[in-house]
Amino acid sequence: MPEQLSARYPTDLPAWQALKDHYRDDMKSRKIAELFARDPERFAHFTARSGDLLLDYSKNFLSAKTRQLLVRLARDAQVEKMRDAMFAGEPINATENRAVLHVALRSKLSDQIALEEPGVSDVWRTLDQMGHFVDAVHDGGVRGSTGRRLTDIVNIGIGGSDLGVVMAGKALRQYWHGGTRLHCVSNIDGTQLSDLMSELDPQNTLFVVCSKTFTTLETLTNANAARAWIADSLGVTAVGHHFAAASTNHQAMDEFGINPEYRFGLWDWVGGRFSIWSAVGLSLALVIGREDFQRFLSGARRMDQHFRNAPVEENMPILMALIAVWYNNFFGADSQAILPYDNRLDRFPAFLQQMQMESNGKGVRADGRPVKTKTGMVVWGEAGSNAQHSFNQLLHQGTRFVPVDFIVPAWTSGSSQRQQDLAIANCLAQSEALMDGYSVEQAVHDLADAGYAETDARSLAAHKTHPGNRPSNTILFPELTPDTLGQLVALYEHKVFVEGVIWGINSFDQWGVELGKRLATRLADVVSDGSPYPGDNESTIGLLAAIRRLSRQ
Ligand code: F6P
Repeated sequence: MPEQLSARYPTDLPAWQALKDHYRDDMKSRKIAELFARDPERFAHFTARSGDLLLDYSKNFLSAKTRQLLVRLARDAQVEKMRDAMFAGEPINATENRAVLHVALRSKLSDQIALEEPGVSDVWRTLDQMGHFVDAVHDGGVRGSTGRRLTDIVNIGIGGSDLGVVMAGKALRQYWHGGTRLHCVSNIDGTQLSDLMSELDPQNTLFVVCSKTFTTLETLTNANAARAWIADSLGVTAVGHHFAAASTNHQAMDEFGINPEYRFGLWDWVGGRFSIWSAVGLSLALVIGREDFQRFLSGARRMDQHFRNAPVEENMPILMALIAVWYNNFFGADSQAILPYDNRLDRFPAFLQQMQMESNGKGVRADGRPVKTKTGMVVWGEAGSNAQHSFNQLLHQGTRFVPVDFIVPAWTSGSSQRQQDLAIANCLAQSEALMDGYSVEQAVHDLADAGYAETDARSLAAHKTHPGNRPSNTILFPELTPDTLGQLVALYEHKVFVEGVIWGINSFDQWGVELGKRLATRLADVVSDGSPYPGDNESTIGLLAAIRRLSRQ
């Protein structure tokens, strides 16, 4: 068991106390603009590079001393040791007694990542099997039961078996080829699936059932409904032609009726929210093709190498994690906004919500003791321009402290560079406005220039003022490609892991989702056929009665 599990509370580490003092004495009342004034080379001193990504973290409450103390915190918390333990395949997911090896999914054999761990040496065979299947769907070697090409790929999964496919599928829209289109179904209420079925022709449709466990109620409910649709429209024997699946549960795939050639395995050391690199990415591979899926993996591998080898001071995921801890635990930030300036990344915040909040939303440390500090921040966000016309008001003038990550490609992933240039201008303007603000004096001056009388100008100026001094990171990269997307996703994966190490929590389990699942199972028959409710929650009793009164059956 890695030593970190018996490590001290972060608050007991010398660097933590030093950071507390540094916050109180140097940073609490600091203006970020002063840090720029003090160091004309601040941009150069507070940017990090990895592969195609540039992280500008200069617009933060961070001096050279802060960075030095944060780096010390990472060292004291044994981040490097835990990172190496992860790459070595040690069972760092202690509550499930599992290794955490999503990094093996994008490695090369020559990287020698945990090759002795059961399943790791099958990674490349499975990728090859996926590649052949993808090619066969594209070239018509694999067809539907009536001989038609399979052009509509419907991913059925939820959580980690959905969000990555949704996010990356949209992000890489310009790489879709082979005439295939991607659709995703996750929610249990059935509307997503029925809306889709009304548009699709079953003859062209390939469902990919994605479920690590193949026991998830939402996924199985949707998969059964989809199977009924295929069987009703094309006959029961068609099912084998219109379903593929990715799971660790081979028996369940078999029982569902998945053709053995269309089944793709994964391993228990792949966490759901880190699984897009495995067969869970099959639907993505089916739309972007084998080569581009491989490029997506290679991008992630580039970030893995950076994470493994770059010194802590220059290590992008470690720096981002440290900045997040700095704001979470010292400045009291409760949430973090993610604003991508490319509409194709508009599901990236939702993808990060699971990655960050399911990983680090924990109140108990890996060693079983309660945490003493706040852990995972709430993550939220939206494509940048939409955000500006929606919630950015709160970021600029509200009372909450919300650090922002701006994510922006230099080149359009659509057809208009002119429009992307406008997006970039808006992105830069937002981070500038957050940091520099707009003073009362400036507002009064501008209002006077616009012809306002002095008293009116003064009273309106209070409303127009932006306090500024609000921090942000900017992640810039050339263009949204499979390679850069792979780098970006792996960046956040490692960032989340490092935060967890510092807080002493296990970022790789998710026990907090179990209770709700159990209670829902208990309530399913109560709701649908009026069976007696076995619980004693008065609100549930009241709601059940109200639901029965509303029922149309
Ligand atoms: O409910 C949480 C969760 O267990 C996630 O962690 C996981 O990504 C999702 O459900 C789906 O699980 P599965 O892939 O086993 O269907």
